[in-house]
Amino acid sequence: MGITRRAFLQSAGATLGSLALPRPGFTAAASPFELRAAVTRQPIRDGAQTEVWSFNGACPGPLLRFKKGQTVDVRLRNDLPRVTTVHWHGIRLDNAMDGVPHVTQAPVRVGDKFDYHFTVPDSGTYWYHPHQSSFEQVPRGLYGPIVVEEDKPLPVDREELWVLSDFKLDKANKPIEDYGRVLDFGSGGRIGNTITINGLAANASRKLALRPNERVRLRLVNAASARIFSLAFDGHDPIVVTYDGQSTAPHPIPGGVLVLGPGQRTDLVIDGTAETRGTFAINDRREGGTRLASIVYAGSPARAKALPLPEAVERNALPEPDIAKATAHFLVFEGGVMGQPAIARVDGKALDVKQIMEQHGLTWTMNYTAQHEHAMMHEPLFRFDRGEHATIKMLNHTEYEHPMHMHGHFFKVLALDDRKLERPVWRDTVMLGPKGSCDIAFVADNVGEWMFHCHILDHAAGGMMGTLVVDG
Ligand code: C2O
Ligand code: CU
Repeated sequence: MGITRRAFLQSAGATLGSLALPRPGFTAAASPFELRAAVTRQPIRDGAQTEVWSFNGACPGPLLRFKKGQTVDVRLRNDLPRVTTVHWHGIRLDNAMDGVPHVTQAPVRVGDKFDYHFTVPDSGTYWYHPHQSSFEQVPRGLYGPIVVEEDKPLPVDREELWVLSDFKLDKANKPIEDYGRVLDFGSGGRIGNTITINGLAANASRKLALRPNERVRLRLVNAASARIFSLAFDGHDPIVVTYDGQSTAPHPIPGGVLVLGPGQRTDLVIDGTAETRGTFAINDRREGGTRLASIVYAGSPARAKALPLPEAVERNALPEPDIAKATAHFLVFEGGVMGQPAIARVDGKALDVKQIMEQHGLTWTMNYTAQHEHAMMHEPLFRFDRGEHATIKMLNHTEYEHPMHMHGHFFKVLALDDRKLERPVWRDTVMLGPKGSCDIAFVADNVGEWMFHCHILDHAAGGMMGTLVVDG
């Protein structure tokens, strides 16, 4: 069952330009569910057709909506001109199904297929994307959302899901195909010039329509390859209920601006409580600010009075790290075009950052080594016994931000820049500020070799891609 872009939009009775929840793309009846990766076309900006690489004919690909604990069969069919894989970002699954080329599986050849079979243990908002040449395949349009429902869903009137991303388009709305430049690897990454919400250009005419006193759960996914969003909602006070799919005590957006790094998700509860029936901007506050969408009011009141603060989303059974018995580890990042002349080991040879750029096209180091994406011989950064409790202190000695993502596990963020968090949060992707630090703790309970990398995909390709091994 393929979900076309049209169906994707129509499914929620949406008209073009509105932003509604896509219909479930996966049903038990369609098993295995086929995800077909292919080169297709769709309007992104100005109504013009743009070539994208997509799943099932649309970017974003179909929403995969599962029940917590469900076992899932998805068949990837690769009709792209290149090899690929699919990674299920944030799902704690068996290592063999993690979709990492050369680490957990062979790349899926052109014209070939691969069957992914796994169980989804945790509720929340997740997403899928290739892990093969992800700095190119993801910004070409290969990504899609996953929702795993809670056993007892949070009571809301309606859900919306926004997959945020960007495209780099020329004047004729053709993709600018400048992937893999060392300059992008070593700086902020390859940032697009057209921000998209669910595959369509973001602008003031994109609408989040609320009825007075209506309660909407807005699931946000940042699928951009490099762009960090700083979202601000005029006239409203959205409540954060999950980060990276994991329940957090409901609270207003800290400082009123939601930072969403590549790979990260946040679920918000937004109540239609504005006093006037005006139009309210949703802005990205980065780089001078960009209008992404508008909150508008339509329809009769959902109820006479606004609802009280939402209750917490049902928690997942994540293993609680015991700091007292945890083994302590560190991870230092160096390099980048503005970086100090870092020393790196590449294939056992010591080089400085200029040499690793010129000789290897690499720009960053993790614990003084730089590795090619999915290099077959890479040394793991860490090795844990199954069930080991561990802390990792990440030290960012670079001038750039890095959303660091761990596969196969969630970790608890204990401190940022040496300041203890009042309310530690569970995440699979955490933002490190320039010259910042982050302390995390987790239980290494999922056996296998797991990627631990920056989710600015140009950085990952430029050396910020390592692994940790959990011995069985
Ligand atoms: Cu979202 Cu290693 O990836
Ligand atoms: Cu990075």
